[in-house]
Amino acid sequence: MMSGGLINIVDLKTHFRDRRTGAEVKACDGVTVSIGEGEIVGLVGESGCGKSTLGRTIVGLERPTSGKIIFRGEDLLSLRGRRLAESRRQIQYIFQDPYSSLSTRQTIGQAIDEALVINGEKNAKARRKRTEELLAAVGLPTQIMDRYSREMSGGQRQRVCIARALAANPKVLICDEPVSSLDVSIRAQIMNLFLQLRDEMGMACLLIAHDLAVVRQAAQRVYVMYLGRLMEIGESGALYGTPSHPYTQALLSAIPDTDPRQERARQRVLLNGDVPSPVNPPTGCRFRTRCPTAQAICETSPPAKVMGPDHIAACHFAGEVNLAPTQH
Ligand SMILES: Nc1ncnc2c1ncn2[C@@H]1O[C@H](COP(=O)(O)OP(=O)(O)OP(=O)(O)O)[C@@H](O)[C@H]1O
Ligand SMILES: [Mg+2]
Repeated sequence: MMSGGLINIVDLKTHFRDRRTGAEVKACDGVTVSIGEGEIVGLVGESGCGKSTLGRTIVGLERPTSGKIIFRGEDLLSLRGRRLAESRRQIQYIFQDPYSSLSTRQTIGQAIDEALVINGEKNAKARRKRTEELLAAVGLPTQIMDRYSREMSGGQRQRVCIARALAANPKVLICDEPVSSLDVSIRAQIMNLFLQLRDEMGMACLLIAHDLAVVRQAAQRVYVMYLGRLMEIGESGALYGTPSHPYTQALLSAIPDTDPRQERARQRVLLNGDVPSPVNPPTGCRFRTRCPTAQAICETSPPAKVMGPDHIAACHFAGEVNLAPTQH
């Protein structure tokens, strides 16, 4: 899928050595993801499944154990020096917590100005103009330049963080739970901002979230991750409309319906037990120890079953089971 993409992550593994026990933690364990130019892609899964590890590896904060990260046709892992720095500039990371990612001693204007200096803009006047443009692009008034982050709401701070990332003129934003620390009421506004940035500047985004509901509105395609592996990949309409992996069905069944009548009729899929340790993941399908429909065959690796155009599920029974029929 999307082989001509902006970023192609191929069979990426990032394993850690547990400091205390020395065990190998297979946090990200063979993941293939592509992001097209100007495409918004969701990456969803429960806590600990390796989402941040994948995001951090893409931007160079973690060293991969193996695999490829092809950005605009070049493997980042084989680039060095200036060429690597230039590619890294084009891939910016947005952190979950806008509270800790802004300095308390800088005004907003200074924070963005600093990012522009780092990116080589030497002319102070040009930087001032660019700062105003960047603030406008993220929906903040110019006057906010003289304010400090402590005087701002979480949503405004996240907008500033996005403006600062945009100062580098990136091609893609890797956003690690960009709204999870924010008030529920303003989450949709920040998600809308990503849509606007895509429409207005062709910005591609990888939106990482726990919850399938969070990325539904913005993502064109969604990757569902579990215990270091991908369970299902789909164009949004297909993934939300006809989820084919039992894990995706379980995640979707956990989302409350806004319509009270449908909410009463909603069937929830309860998963057995806890997520196993990424040190000793189950053989075959990683999800099988919690899957309500698992059979003996699930101890062998699941096939990547093609469910439709841009829709793949890694399950022996993909499309044959429906744990929670959708009401609509
Ligand atoms: N530096 C590290 N050393 C050892 N183990 C790590 C390290 N970083 C992450 N892990 C482990 O790797 C696994 C995946 O962690 P990761 O933070 O990528 O998950 P996540 O999907 O982002 O979770 P969350 O939703 O809670 O943010 C977890 O078991 C975690 O404990
Ligand atoms: Mg995380």
